Amino acid sequence: MKILMCRPDYYGIKYEINPWMSISHTVDHQAALNQWEALYKTILSCGAHVDLVTPVDGWPDMVFTANAGLFFHSKIVLPHFKHKERQGELPFFKAWFKQAGFAFWNDITSETPYFEGAGDALLAGNTLFAGYGFRTDRKFYEEAGYLSRSKVILCELSDPYFYHIDTCFCPINDKLAIWYPDAFTQKTQQRMTNEIELIPVAINEAKRFACNAVVLGKNIILPSGCPQISSELQKRGLEVHACDMDEFLKAGGACKCLTLRIG
Ligand code: ARG
Repeated sequence: MKILMCRPDYYGIKYEINPWMSISHTVDHQAALNQWEALYKTILSCGAHVDLVTPVDGWPDMVFTANAGLFFHSKIVLPHFKHKERQGELPFFKAWFKQAGFAFWNDITSETPYFEGAGDALLAGNTLFAGYGFRTDRKFYEEAGYLSRSKVILCELSDPYFYHIDTCFCPINDKLAIWYPDAFTQKTQQRMTNEIELIPVAINEAKRFACNAVVLGKNIILPSGCPQISSELQKRGLEVHACDMDEFLKAGGACKCLTLRIG
């Protein structure tokens, strides 16, 4: 497994584009560095390869590489960030993908519907759970013909605190996932239930971003403070690693948001 990450050198809360963010919550920069480093080392210790994109001053959310694109059938689907506060990250991510030899499925123009990469689109086997409602437009999936290489399940998000699908849903393998059901509309809950076995996460752990987990085979890396879902996963033979993510929760992100699968 190959993962892309970005060091939090310029990370901070400089604007408010989701309900978790408040510019009055200042980030403890050293603590953020330590938390990021611990996550990075945990990912390496689980046997994944990690590539690093150089952080750029002025783009504090660039650390959340999950939104840099979607690795889909060996090529990258580029994102169209909804907020101008993040749109300037695109040329840097695109340049990184290019020099690393990746090809792209799409081009982004000002007309492209919004799409926030692997933050909103998660594969379980060959089924793509396609989140929309806050950052991604449903229209993006409808127009992207190449997505028919996978089975696409449209998932409508309904709670602004869970604004990307990776904040409230995480496939563990092609048959099992964890989720916070109330983050989705009733119709979507039904659609997802028909597709995959789902372990519910309690509200208090959902708010700790329990669903924002990095899955590396049998290893599940999730934020600390989520004992209930951790023991559910352990009961199923999975190995759980908890990482303190408190500095990143201030921006509405955690383990999974800080990573992008690229191989
Ligand atoms: N502050 C960032 C934003 O609002 C957090 C992104 C979290 N990323 C994710 N994949 N959920 O865009």
